[in-house]
Amino acid sequence: MITVVIVYHSGYGHTAAQAEAVLKGVQSVPEVSAQLIRVEDIEAHWATLDGADAIVFGSPTYMGSVSGPFKSFMDASSRRWLQQAWKDKIAAGFTNSGSLSGDKLNTLIQLAVFAAQHGMVWVGQAELPGGRADEAINRIGSMLGAAAQSDHGSGRPAEGDLATAEKFGARVALAAHRWKRGALA
Ligand SMILES: Cc1cc2nc3c(=O)[nH]c(=O)nc-3n(C[C@H](O)[C@H](O)[C@H](O)COP(=O)(O)O)c2cc1C
Repeated sequence: MITVVIVYHSGYGHTAAQAEAVLKGVQSVPEVSAQLIRVEDIEAHWATLDGADAIVFGSPTYMGSVSGPFKSFMDASSRRWLQQAWKDKIAAGFTNSGSLSGDKLNTLIQLAVFAAQHGMVWVGQAELPGGRADEAINRIGSMLGAAAQSDHGSGRPAEGDLATAEKFGARVALAAHRWKRGALA
């Protein structure tokens, strides 16, 4: 059994909908146990992250970067860094914002650097951009991680961004399977 944990923040529910789509994709892969954890609840769940094969990080883009609560989680994880507790786990990331760009790439770069700080193995997003329609896969054209755009007050990202998040979740779960099976030690 592979365990995948999705740890995320969402101030107003839009990134939460993206996280649910990632979860759905993870759960589409056999022999995977998956769990969503809100950063607000992290104190009760550090051990869950320590025991996971893969951790997916998700944050809305606020002011061109991860949100404050997500950054607090990142800083609190420094105790894990000291112990190298997440070294060699699979990592991946996703973000959502109000604008088509909204400087989301900076958030994904932050998440990838964060994973590197922990010695984790980053898995990117591998769906080719399928056009600019709302229902298109990877309409944002993001390859470092899954990206979504939510119209203000809509409560959720565009359909194509949710479908992209789902495919992304499946990719991460499959990568975790391969990574674990291939281990020599
Ligand atoms: C404090 C704050 C900062 C924001 N900064 C950005 C930004 O830099 N780029 C952008 O496109 N949208 C920005 N937005 C819009 C949010 O990214 C957007 O509403 C998103 O869907 C919120 O996700 P959530 O409901 O999961 O919190 C910002 C919103 C807030 C509240």
